[in-house]
Amino acid sequence: MRVAIAGATGYTGLELMRILSAHPHITISALTSETYAGREFAHVYPGYLKRELPRLEPLVPEKIAAKADIVFTALPHKEAMRVVPALLKHGSRVIDLSADFRFKSQKTYERWYQEHSAPSLLGRAVYGLPELYRAAIKKAKLVANPGCYPTSIVLPLAPLLRKNMITLSSIIADSKSGVSGAGRSAKTASLFCEVSETFKAYGVFEHRHQPEIEEQLSALSGSQVKIAFSPHLLPMSRGMLSTIYARLKTNARPQDIQDVLDNFFKKEPFVRIHPQGSLPHTAGVRGTNFCDIGFRLQDKQLVLISCIDNLVKGASGQAVQNMNIMLGMPETTALDMAPLYP
Ligand SMILES: NC(=O)c1ccc[n+]([C@@H]2O[C@H](COP(=O)([O-])OP(=O)(O)OC[C@H]3O[C@@H](n4cnc5c(N)ncnc54)[C@H](OP(=O)(O)O)[C@@H]3O)[C@@H](O)[C@H]2O)c1
Repeated sequence: MRVAIAGATGYTGLELMRILSAHPHITISALTSETYAGREFAHVYPGYLKRELPRLEPLVPEKIAAKADIVFTALPHKEAMRVVPALLKHGSRVIDLSADFRFKSQKTYERWYQEHSAPSLLGRAVYGLPELYRAAIKKAKLVANPGCYPTSIVLPLAPLLRKNMITLSSIIADSKSGVSGAGRSAKTASLFCEVSETFKAYGVFEHRHQPEIEEQLSALSGSQVKIAFSPHLLPMSRGMLSTIYARLKTNARPQDIQDVLDNFFKKEPFVRIHPQGSLPHTAGVRGTNFCDIGFRLQDKQLVLISCIDNLVKGASGQAVQNMNIMLGMPETTALDMAPLYP
């Protein structure tokens, strides 16, 4: 299978390169960059010296589609919807890492982002969370890879919402992300002196992942869900931890919660439920495609803790998981990594 990465020089593009380099059944056939077009990938990332890779080229959708069966679009939103229709038209299947095709509701997308230039594709795109939509991903021509915060929040809540165990108005998600979540392009807010030795909340009730999380939680519960979501920036390069507070509708024992989580994810290769007495930490998933989940229960107050690597299960690892599903390959191919301790 020939695979292209559009936006190969960004952090998610680079992470796709790391993961796909270990994939036995694909060839990387095209890499795009506007800034470094014509240069070797190793010119930008010397860690890739001595690897046979195509040169970086500008993103001309027809040319890329002619070279690739699958295209990962690791581009900023708005840029993705500009090129995805042409990639599909010329026969490629697309896994888009941006937010452009994640929403079923055009109105919601346009309220939080901008006018959509390819709204007819919103209904055709499949939300790329394999634990919920595996069957549809298998047949999809266009997969909308989820956001990192949504992955870390939707996965732990999914089993409990499906079982109607949660008071919907009670959900609070308090999340922390590493700085690579903001991408590689230069921004004052991501400068070393702005993020190191400090810890801050940002975008409370204004973060664009909030409507995405709410759309998914609403689909799971069958009713409109609104949450309180407070994202924070951690002084580390990668990793994400979400602490999710929710009230149970009726009394339950910790073992009941453990059973619901264990049963829901028992066949899932990338979701690990911690046993009672153990809570996950970001180092345990660093560099891996795992989502680790733990919980505590006091009376009806449930606290769920989930950890992912924002660049792996939160982006490029999940994208490769989706590709494996689309191509009928074992889902764990190239994703069987151990965490990078320390
Ligand atoms: N970072 C994360 O943790 C994360 C997690 C989940 C989803 N995402 C989403 O994934 C997408 C990529 O994120 P990222 O963090 O990898 O971003 P990034 O580091 O800023 O990289 C963006 C890439 O897009 C290319 N690009 C920028 N403008 C372009 C244009 N007008 N035409 C063609 N290519 C263009 C850049 O290429 P050149 O600069 O070389 O030209 C670069 O390769 C975003 O939509 C983001 O929201 C990111």
